[in-house]
Amino acid sequence: MNLQFTLNGKPWSVDCEPADTLAEVLRNQLNLNGTKVSCEVQVCGACTVLVDNLPVSACTYLAYEARGKNLLTVEGLEKADGTLHPIQQAFIDDFAFQCGYCTPGMIMAAKSLLDENPNPSREEIIHHMDGNICRCTGYVPIVAAIQRAAGMIAKEKKQ
Ligand code: FES
Ligand code: FES
Repeated sequence: MNLQFTLNGKPWSVDCEPADTLAEVLRNQLNLNGTKVSCEVQVCGACTVLVDNLPVSACTYLAYEARGKNLLTVEGLEKADGTLHPIQQAFIDDFAFQCGYCTPGMIMAAKSLLDENPNPSREEIIHHMDGNICRCTGYVPIVAAIQRAAGMIAKEKKQ
């Protein structure tokens, strides 16, 4: 079947099987390997991408469900000049990853939070991120990075 959607700001057309997941299409056909796959059962959040601004688990979201929708993956966050998105930069600044396998999903989940709630409390961050599992860093620097990113985004908006 043929699918057409907008991905990271550009129109895409791709042929896939009806049972292909969005993660399979992104990684295997479009070579967008930033989206990670770990549990494959919608538990860990490693595969989080945004579909029409809402976070979905690409490991179980069937690709055909994305028809006509607006998709954003971690590859779509940096600006055209290569400047990292504030959430990406904050994860670096706060050392919020070790192996980095969970990080793209964490960043996309954090983006969905900050788009909806630009100034979340620590508790709101923890609640929103509870579907994203990190097996090595621990969560303190991840929460700190999201708080830092909220401040960076607010500062950018004032400029
Ligand atoms: S790989 Fe999709 S939720 Fe774990
Ligand atoms: S940084 Fe390794 S799983 Fe999160």
